[in-house]
Amino acid sequence: MKILAIESSCDETSAAVVEKNGDGIVVLSNITATSLEIHAKTGGIIPENAARMQVRYILPVIIEALCTSENRRQKSKDKSWDRARTILKQDIDAIAVTYGPGLIGSLLVGVETVKTLAYVFDKPIIPVNHLLAHIYGNFIRVNSKELNPKPSTLDTTKPFPFIGLIVSGGHTDLLLFSKHGKYEWLGGTRDDAAGEAFDKVGRILGLPYPAGPEIERRANLVVQTNIKFKSPIISEDNFDFSFSGLKTEALRYIEKSGVTSGGGPLIPLLNEVCYATQKAIIDVLVKKTLKAAEKYNCSTILVGGGVSANQTLIDQLKLNAKHSNLNPEIISPEKIYCTDNGAMIGAYALLNYSEANWSEIKANPELYFA
Ligand code: KG4
Ligand code: ZN
Repeated sequence: MKILAIESSCDETSAAVVEKNGDGIVVLSNITATSLEIHAKTGGIIPENAARMQVRYILPVIIEALCTSENRRQKSKDKSWDRARTILKQDIDAIAVTYGPGLIGSLLVGVETVKTLAYVFDKPIIPVNHLLAHIYGNFIRVNSKELNPKPSTLDTTKPFPFIGLIVSGGHTDLLLFSKHGKYEWLGGTRDDAAGEAFDKVGRILGLPYPAGPEIERRANLVVQTNIKFKSPIISEDNFDFSFSGLKTEALRYIEKSGVTSGGGPLIPLLNEVCYATQKAIIDVLVKKTLKAAEKYNCSTILVGGGVSANQTLIDQLKLNAKHSNLNPEIISPEKIYCTDNGAMIGAYALLNYSEANWSEIKANPELYFA
């Protein structure tokens, strides 16, 4: 079965063609356009701007994904709508789309485009929860050097029960998955998400949006520091998080010391603030995730969402897992499948195949966990 999968919940417009091959998910194409540059100029996402760019990108991205899926080794030369339409008609069995959560304007572009294509080409639609799809980025078989599928360490039938840690720009959640489609929400953030905390502290420091990758880069340059920020509610006996206090703590420190990104001799100090910010976020994520694995006796943890691209987070999870009694395996997606992408939407749809009537599918910006 081949699925065309569309992601348009925020500032990325992405389309992928994926198929199930044995016990793995194979990506035949994954094309992403981003409006990040525009948001970098405004220091964050203005929803109207994001939606406008979704409208601009959605059809070219779909056409390129369909045409590239035909021949993965070389980008398709024929990128015409005519070719894409033929592939859609002949090769694609269903269309998956993110219907929430996200920005309403951005979501609507993907959802309404897919409804139109599904109606015109008589294809079933699979609506997908963006947050669950982040975890399913882990089921994609990848070999970044060649485009041939190779056995993934993660068999689609084997990891259950597992703990899922979702860390994105808008959400931070811990879930217990007992099988595909069956999960229990254990806890989540009470205020800012982990990615949001990176971005807000970055804004205070004058770093470009999104600040997560830049904070990680600067933190990696630090050998030693005395700066320490609190990891809120780290000692509470629950699976909740709270990151909104971090920006206040960082702000107070910055006001006191005069650190900014244009800070000349203060740049080492700026890097130390980045280190302290990253450490405060990671410490609590690591502690509560491993605690969840211990409590529910899970020997596998899957991490997903933009912040899972943070190598220090993954390394710290692995290191601390090794020292725990249970020693769970930590799995995170290939970097390109950490941030928003169409392939993870397709992976979720293939492993949780459930068609919905096109007339009933509505974009739901507040979608959470049912
Ligand atoms: O999942 P995602 O692409 O979009 C949402 O669904 O929100 O996540 C974007 C978030 C941003 O907040 C960004 O700063 C963060 O992921 N991020 C990172 C890194 N790469 C992206 N945070 C920390 N370290 C990174 N390397
Ligand atoms: Zn996301």
